[in-house]
Amino acid sequence: VSGSVVLVGAGPGDPDLLTLAAVRALQDADVILHDDLVSDAVLAFARNEARKFLVGKRGGRPSASQREIEALMVGLARQGKKVARLKGGDPMLFGRADEEIAACRAAGVPVTVIPGITAMSAAAAAIGRSLTGRGTARKVEIVTGHDRTGALPDEAGPELTTRVVYMPKGSAGEHAALLLSEGWAPETPVAFVVAASRPEQRVVAGALVDAAILAQACGDEPALLLVGALAKELSLDATTVRSGTDG
Ligand SMILES: C[S@@+](CC[C@H](N)C(=O)[O-])C[C@H]1O[C@@H](n2cnc3c(N)ncnc32)[C@H](O)[C@@H]1O
Repeated sequence: VSGSVVLVGAGPGDPDLLTLAAVRALQDADVILHDDLVSDAVLAFARNEARKFLVGKRGGRPSASQREIEALMVGLARQGKKVARLKGGDPMLFGRADEEIAACRAAGVPVTVIPGITAMSAAAAAIGRSLTGRGTARKVEIVTGHDRTGALPDEAGPELTTRVVYMPKGSAGEHAALLLSEGWAPETPVAFVVAASRPEQRVVAGALVDAAILAQACGDEPALLLVGALAKELSLDATTVRSGTDG
């Protein structure tokens, strides 16, 4: 396969909130598959010759099914095209990214992700208030307003939650103990993502019960702790420490 797919975060709408990497990917793409929420001002960064397909819903027209989007994306990459899959906000929040990444991998198509500014960050900026005001909020909850049928989903338990912990290293053991006491399973996957997006980026992954040991393997760089199903079976590099086995 000579083509490739890049999932590109288009940000909340203002083209000034695109990343440099997103602009470069748009200028490089042969084909752009975009959602309805992606603004025309963002699409204007694409080359004139690039083909653009709207694959989201708009104006009551029937939208392409997720399967059709994946088939189109993979098919174009297999023809040697550089495909930019442009999604509103950040592709990794409520954007069906896992399905699209899996489809590419299954077809042997190289796939990468460029994060974007999520709507939440733009909303906080719009109201001029921190989402984690000192003394008012130490947790931010991101949930979906509706399920596949349009109904309000049930409150998610631990098995349907991704927990993201900022500044996790000093208290990882206590944090894990708290979650275990709240009913999280000891074998719940966890991953410290160290120096994300930087050259020294790495992942230290294992089980919730071993969080304190894993934290020690993170070194001095900044790290985020991810807890939940997404931390399972990560494609781990050589620097990765797996808890409980290789010490
Ligand atoms: C399918 S979700 C995708 C979220 C996106 N991946 C992100 O990170 O922002 C679409 C929802 O995001 C919210 N959204 C997207 N852009 C927005 C904006 N500019 N202002 C407010 N809400 C926005 C709306 O609630 C919209 O229904």
